Amino acid sequence: MIEIPVEKTFYIETFGCQMNAHDSEKVVGTLLAKGYAQVETPEEAGYVFYNTCSIRDKAEQKVFNRLQNFKRIGKGKVFAVIGCVAQQEGEKIFERAPHVSLVAGSASYTKLPEMLVQLEAGNKRVTGLSFEGAEAFDTPFTRRDNPHRAYLTIIEGCDKNCSYCVVPFTRGPERSRTSASVIDEATKLAESGYTEVQLLGQNVNSYRDPSAAGWDFATLLDRVGSVPGIRRVRFTTSHPRDFVKPIIDAIDANPNLCNHVHLPVQSGSSRVLEGMQRLYTREQYMERIGWMKAAKRPIAITTDIIVGFPGETEKDFEDTLDLLDEVQYDSLFAFKYSPRPNTAALQMGDHISEEEKVRRLTILNERQRAIQIRRNSELIGAVEEVHVEGRHKSLGQWIGRTSQNLTLNFTGPEDVDLIGTYLPVRVTRASAYSLVGESGR
Ligand code: 5AD
Ligand code: SF4
Repeated sequence: MIEIPVEKTFYIETFGCQMNAHDSEKVVGTLLAKGYAQVETPEEAGYVFYNTCSIRDKAEQKVFNRLQNFKRIGKGKVFAVIGCVAQQEGEKIFERAPHVSLVAGSASYTKLPEMLVQLEAGNKRVTGLSFEGAEAFDTPFTRRDNPHRAYLTIIEGCDKNCSYCVVPFTRGPERSRTSASVIDEATKLAESGYTEVQLLGQNVNSYRDPSAAGWDFATLLDRVGSVPGIRRVRFTTSHPRDFVKPIIDAIDANPNLCNHVHLPVQSGSSRVLEGMQRLYTREQYMERIGWMKAAKRPIAITTDIIVGFPGETEKDFEDTLDLLDEVQYDSLFAFKYSPRPNTAALQMGDHISEEEKVRRLTILNERQRAIQIRRNSELIGAVEEVHVEGRHKSLGQWIGRTSQNLTLNFTGPEDVDLIGTYLPVRVTRASAYSLVGESGR
């Protein structure tokens, strides 16, 4: 075996959303192609990469904690802060953490090979912070972590202007990939054995093919779901303003498109939605929910909610609780509002106390938990197709996922490797967050 010198090894830790997870796969692929080897701990590595998230203050603090930990023992290592905190804080990071040598946002990863050359030459202040000429990051070198479910970027950046959100600043303006390059990547994924793809973008619904074909999102979704070998297509994330009925029609017509839609609402109060600059009212949001409920296949609906947005009254909060009852979500992510740099909401008065945010978050999560227990228990006795993702050795269970994105762990044959296969499983037990069942085989 050839011994790899420590200067040619890297460690990477990823924070944040699926876009970031996928960016890291692209960064890893690029580094491997340049002859670097990945190691499991920062201690062993010559290069330490942190791919960062700045969506909420807590996420942002994580990277600074990591950097602090390595301030003294990190001698001789090259530290790189990439991703959303890098884009947001820019060169200020060099001042706050002088042992960092590279600060680069996601729009600059195409230039990573050149930046590595500069680092290897001993340059201690390398940056990639411009959005100029940025395209959707297409790389032949993606090294995917999951052997069965692949992320596939279709659009990067965001042109919305939600008053609480850093993303337009950290990920720049929208750029869609051509439909041909998306279909080509999906085809290659299928050929290399992937059966499930997850289309990614900050706002996939505003996808617009820049080539002459001019496909919209619903068309792209259907075509990806028609690539031979692809059995499941998911997509995230959607924006209610750009979510149109043809998307539901496509799901209805093509069984390869998973019957799950993540449609972040953020608040059940039209007044708060206006302050958030979300560009829809509660009624318009409910119209979209109506399309989903009227679909031929039962579509699982999930959402994101922010509690304690500036000026959110008790009445506004109750409107959100009432929305949960009305929609009956299959699951949701709830967050306490976190003031972010550069955003419009930062200037708004009437900030809600931390204590009150915690109270609202707890009540909201409790309300949703009860809904999930009831909804999931209705599935007992049903047979669901799962895609097998792993094995819980200690529990003697296989880990499966339904088209509706529910975890369904099950007992079944032990003498064969089921991972990566699809099979019907009968649901026998349900909890708020997952299901248990047995395979009929
Ligand atoms: N504070 C709290 N939550 C936020 N989100 C986005 N920005 C903020 C913020 N400043 C939430 C939204 C979004 C999810 C990814 O994170 O709910 O949909
Ligand atoms: Fe975090 Fe948003 Fe950046 Fe994703 S896009 S890593 S959620 S700040």
